[in-house]
Amino acid sequence: MSELNNIALKILENGKGILAADESTGTMTKRLDGVNVPSTPENRLLFRETLFSASSMTECIGGVILYDETIKQVSSKKNKIPELISETGACPGIKVDTGAKVLAGSPDEKITEGLDGLRERLKEYFKLGAKFTKWRGVYSITKNFPSRLSIQSNAHALARYSSLVQECNMVPIVEPEVLMDGEHSAKECYEKTSEVIKKCFEELILHKVDLRGIILKPNMILAGNKSEDKISNEEVAKLTLKCLKNSVPSEVPGIAFLSGGQSEIEATENLNLINKHNDTNFIMSYSYGRALQQSALKFWSKDIKNIEGTQKVFNHRAKMNTLAAQGKWSKDLEI
Ligand code: G3H
Repeated sequence: MSELNNIALKILENGKGILAADESTGTMTKRLDGVNVPSTPENRLLFRETLFSASSMTECIGGVILYDETIKQVSSKKNKIPELISETGACPGIKVDTGAKVLAGSPDEKITEGLDGLRERLKEYFKLGAKFTKWRGVYSITKNFPSRLSIQSNAHALARYSSLVQECNMVPIVEPEVLMDGEHSAKECYEKTSEVIKKCFEELILHKVDLRGIILKPNMILAGNKSEDKISNEEVAKLTLKCLKNSVPSEVPGIAFLSGGQSEIEATENLNLINKHNDTNFIMSYSYGRALQQSALKFWSKDIKNIEGTQKVFNHRAKMNTLAAQGKWSKDLEI
């Protein structure tokens, strides 16, 4: 089992973080539509391959989360995608949930599906070179939500997923995402996120998951994006640390935040402050999707053949976040 702990530590060593490039085809199509690029398998691969071959992969990125389509694709230089990633020193990973669906019993909330047949799919991904996996549970905050039903059932699914993943010798990323959409205050986000994370660990322990062999991927503590309650970045960092200190068992080696709709700079600045104030033993790094790819995607869409230019934009963002994961970022480093 220490093998899984070693993988988790390797992914997050020296300020390295995770590139979350696991958008489903539906989500990736929305992203490409947004920049007027046709969403074909070739274009989806070209953008992703451009990032996976960038020079910052070696020094900044410890893991890449892939989607089912991508892990089975072959690069323009005829490399299998997991091999292309491994050659940079990063670990290939794979999203294994099949998406958030309506939760029967509380139809305005979601439950993440994908447990049926998971053991067999995991064996296939392991053979393809995956070293870690991801599963995302999603929770909204309103007056009555997240309900006990949603908190309990998503925690149960995350735990059953994690235990199957460890059985197959891979590191599960446990992602309970409390969404920032809504009118809630930062205090409500703090309370609900604490409740959600505590329930996840209760279930993980019940399912005998080795906590030294997981990575937690939580949201930061933020006020809702439609809230009147504005809090400073310093407060975001302090509340996030307080929440995690009180709800995450000390055996967990690392925490890699999702960006969740924050702007690129906001996600970097908050991560930097979290690390400046980090008085825990947890590694605190990033597992960003939008906050690592947004500018690169925009740049690429203007000329999809401009590989070098796109990589330069991506390299900058990856470097800024790796500095932030060490508490060494400052605004004047932004160009
Ligand atoms: O599950 C969500 C992604 O892996 C992270 O994406 O950083 O854009 O929230 P995000």
